Amino acid sequence: MYDQLEADLHDTFWAAEGASAELPLIEKFLGQYPGTSLELGCGSGRLLLPLLGEGFFMEGLDNSADMLRLCRAQLGDMDPVLHHASMVDFQTGTTYGAITIPAFTLQFLPPQTIPDLLTNIQHHLHPGGGLYITTFIPWAEITGELNEGEWFLDQETRLPNGHAARCHTRFQIKRLSQELIREHRYEIRTDDGKLIQSSTSSHHLHWYWPREMDKLLGEAGFTIEQTLGDFDPDSACDENSQIITLMARANDEESVDY
Ligand SMILES: C[S@@+](CC[C@H](N)C(=O)[O-])C[C@H]1O[C@@H](n2cnc3c(N)ncnc32)[C@H](O)[C@@H]1O
Repeated sequence: MYDQLEADLHDTFWAAEGASAELPLIEKFLGQYPGTSLELGCGSGRLLLPLLGEGFFMEGLDNSADMLRLCRAQLGDMDPVLHHASMVDFQTGTTYGAITIPAFTLQFLPPQTIPDLLTNIQHHLHPGGGLYITTFIPWAEITGELNEGEWFLDQETRLPNGHAARCHTRFQIKRLSQELIREHRYEIRTDDGKLIQSSTSSHHLHWYWPREMDKLLGEAGFTIEQTLGDFDPDSACDENSQIITLMARANDEESVDY
């Protein structure tokens, strides 16, 4: 997952959707928490690099060597600590003012690991530190707007050299257990259709209803301070929201300093 062509095309496909609507939310959130913060699942630095450029002190963590290689290649004269590790049981040996898990990364983890992850995050936060999480609800798959088992063109963009980059996707959904299994076929083709490069990937995702996230965070000793829908800074999440952003604070007595 997140290697080969999937890693190379990750930022290109996001960029094709325009400026990141999530970045201003993270900037505002981090502004409340002094000190260094950590992005779990930082990938190729799509969000981390602009935040470092804005002057935030940040570290990144990812389990994909290819994504971290792409991130390092774009650092210029910035020199953040980048951890090659799994977020399931990471140990960086320090504490942070805030920890972020943007861009749906939490949903790649098996649900049974989430309580331990949140406890571990507590241990890596200063007392009263901040936690930022974005997840999504796959409404198009849940409601049948997208057809289960059928390949569809998910993403398409033109590369600077004129070649076409595409991602075809098909999925399987398990509504009761809230699981979404997506298969992706990435390809780069010339204008006349010649295949230059291809790779495949499979993602096993889980989604969480807002009340489930409230419960998980509460049990791990966090207080939710804000819940936004669809990256809109002025809109609380409601039952139509597809994207849910949670901003929480660690209860003082729960955090443990190293
Ligand atoms: C959707 S990408 C988001 C990357 C980056 N946060 C961004 O917004 O561009 C998800 C990232 O999470 C990483 N990831 C997935 N599971 C992980 C895990 N268990 N531990 C660490 N990183 C993980 C992937 O390698 C990938 O870089």
